[in-house]
Amino acid sequence: MEVKRVLDKMSVQQFVDEQVSAIRQKVGKDKVLLGLSGGVDSSVCAGLLAKAVPGQAVCIFVDTGLMRLGEADKVKKAFAGKDLQLVVVDAEKRFLDKLKGVTDPNQKRMIIGEEFVRVFEEEAAKLGKFEWLSQGTIYPDILESNGKNAVKPHHNAGGFPKETKFKGLVEPLYYLYKEEVRQVARALGLGEELSDRQPFPGPGLGVRCIGELTKEKLDILRVVDDIVVSEIDKLKDRPKQYFAILTGVKATGVKETSEIDQTSGLAYGARVYDYVACIRTINTTDFVTAKNAKLSYEILDKIVTRITKECNRISRVVYDITDKPPATIEWE
Ligand code: XMP
Repeated sequence: MEVKRVLDKMSVQQFVDEQVSAIRQKVGKDKVLLGLSGGVDSSVCAGLLAKAVPGQAVCIFVDTGLMRLGEADKVKKAFAGKDLQLVVVDAEKRFLDKLKGVTDPNQKRMIIGEEFVRVFEEEAAKLGKFEWLSQGTIYPDILESNGKNAVKPHHNAGGFPKETKFKGLVEPLYYLYKEEVRQVARALGLGEELSDRQPFPGPGLGVRCIGELTKEKLDILRVVDDIVVSEIDKLKDRPKQYFAILTGVKATGVKETSEIDQTSGLAYGARVYDYVACIRTINTTDFVTAKNAKLSYEILDKIVTRITKECNRISRVVYDITDKPPATIEWE
């Protein structure tokens, strides 16, 4: 079911006012717990909650071990001094233990989503009484998770456990598309760093690290991803979304060594058999369909050279040029 854009029918300010009063009405004097990922959706959610029910919302940032390099510190910095209580939970071991041996993408998503809510519940128990759980679910999450055309179960839409202590969900962005969320972010004065932030999926690097999730693989991916993002960040015209994937494939490579071949007297490279990384860059207006962003060879060359020099566990790098459809933006 396709719906009209919400912000075609009302101004951003009207939307903010409507949601603020809807949240107030729903929540009353209750307390709300919000899962803050540092992405634009949950940040806007936090902004709306702060406006609607100041002092009643606590934001929990769960470090799942599936975050990008330095993500936890960035979130702490971004929300320092804001009118919100932020709790950072280090749950890396807990998530990786639950995900041990799991390779099916949808199962990974569901486990991550359920674990998120469990962590919230435990934090709620420690922090006091919370009646509501808020999430930054947006309309494409719903479109792609429900019905016979389901693409994949987004954790925001599919992972809410049946047995829960919360009264229900507060999802003020439920009918918005990503660009509309950015408009709301600007209206809330959240700053460009947040409003223009590219999306990061709830399951994090869990859907960008193919196959079983291990700390070793995730650490490799974090370094590769940081190179991809930091190089593309320098461009004037940036794609809408850009990131790295650690494919589940290993390939043969040759690493330079200083060893000399006894027969020929020439230096030879050591054979390696290690991970293949992938660069993904896309342009889109709604994230429901997307086009490959066609980076120049010059930039790609720079990125690949850095990755292969700086990450000794990567044997080669590929560039995914597939549009959506037929591919989704994320690999899992
Ligand atoms: P796909 O891979 O479905 O991604 O083409 C569309 C957009 O949504 C992001 N994405 C997610 N966001 N939870 C989220 O909050 C998820 O489970 C999830 N999966 C994908 C993705 O990064 C892209 O921007």
